[in-house]
Amino acid sequence: MSQDLAAVAAELAIGQYKWHLLLCADQSKPLCCEKAVGLEAWNYLKSRLKELGLDRGGVAIFRTKANCLRVCQDGPILLVYPGGYWYRNATAEVLERVLQEHLLGGKPVAEFLFATNPLIEQGSASN
Ligand code: FES
Repeated sequence: MSQDLAAVAAELAIGQYKWHLLLCADQSKPLCCEKAVGLEAWNYLKSRLKELGLDRGGVAIFRTKANCLRVCQDGPILLVYPGGYWYRNATAEVLERVLQEHLLGGKPVAEFLFATNPLIEQGSASN
């Protein structure tokens, strides 16, 4: 591994994250919601994670802007790992509920959850 890559990983605090959020926003083909709606949600998520100190530290949350999560309706679509929780209509109001109720409170927001897909646990896959 190059020194540069190790430095990038350290700068991004990779290894400290408890959650990873993928949000469909700024799509090249905005199908699940208007482009402006996705961008507004993305900007809200970024600023709230920073405001709440959740971009680093004990409950650190990594965020990724996804071009399309292939659902393409009822967006913005939000995917939360671990657990594989798929949320619909993830506007600022819903994102705030997911942050407070699910990620900090431990209770998924059933009203906006439309699917779950926990990934296979390490060691449980057969060759
Ligand atoms: S455009 Fe958002 S899921 Fe496809």
